[in-house]
Amino acid sequence: MPSDGDWWGRAPGRVNLIGEHVDYLGGVVLPAAVDRFTEVSGRPAPEWSITSDVPGGLAYVRAVGEELGVAPQAVVVTSQVPPNAGISSSAALLVAVAAGLKPDMEGKEAALACQRAEQKATGVQVGVMDQFASALGRRGGAILLDCATLEYQVVPFPDEVAIAVIDSGEHRSLAATPYNQRRREAESGDPKRRRHVDSEIARVHAFVAALRARDFARMGALLKQSHLSLRDDFEVSTPNVDAIVERAWSIDGCWGARIMGAGFGGSVLALVERPRTKSFETALGRPVLFCTTAAGAFAKP
Ligand code: GLA
Repeated sequence: MPSDGDWWGRAPGRVNLIGEHVDYLGGVVLPAAVDRFTEVSGRPAPEWSITSDVPGGLAYVRAVGEELGVAPQAVVVTSQVPPNAGISSSAALLVAVAAGLKPDMEGKEAALACQRAEQKATGVQVGVMDQFASALGRRGGAILLDCATLEYQVVPFPDEVAIAVIDSGEHRSLAATPYNQRRREAESGDPKRRRHVDSEIARVHAFVAALRARDFARMGALLKQSHLSLRDDFEVSTPNVDAIVERAWSIDGCWGARIMGAGFGGSVLALVERPRTKSFETALGRPVLFCTTAAGAFAKP
């Protein structure tokens, strides 16, 4: 724990099991907080500053502080959430700062403040999913979140299904991608984009039913369908990501895989039988980050 600050906070990264590019349209999503954490500490200072191994956090820290109405702070960050690995290091940083500065805040309010802060810091009109998962995720569960009402349920997620995150090596900051453009296209009712959104929301419900029934093969099939929809209808995949996803599909012990998060490169999610994680990584021929579910920064035990 960073020790010499006046306050301290910690928040996890997240994965999104299914429900991609639907949060900002009021759809349902199924993210989970995962066991990689960002820790922050801080104390009042004449101006906002950040000490961190990872560049680029100052705009986030300042933006969340301003959202919370807090005077400038000198903030020290230590993070196990690799940047650009697809598990939302930005949400983990924002939520850790909010948890440190306002530990008694209601989790939903914190998630919304962090979403606004991210929008302000980046100019990207992100949805609330990542910040919500980092704030209110649960160990042993995924969060079925209705982004229109912010009502949510915890759906048990078994440790025997390993959550694998694969870095595609293609990284672009969201501000440099057509994320805002895709959002506008979907909002304005473009038929192809809507076809993804409507089918993806149906897949979230089907995935939750399969998860409750422990039908892991069905969950994997839904991940595949999600990928094809994100590739062909929402057009946020890349040839390199498609190749990784297809390779993952072919490996024994992998239930399914798809592009995860905003896309345009980024990362791939795969669900893998827990005893076969090593052979999966070897067969894939790339480093894999294996995660388990974890508690969010504002989750009540
Ligand atoms: C990014 C955004 C989220 C969400 C995903 C796509 O991770 O921060 O709000 O829109 O992309 O599902």
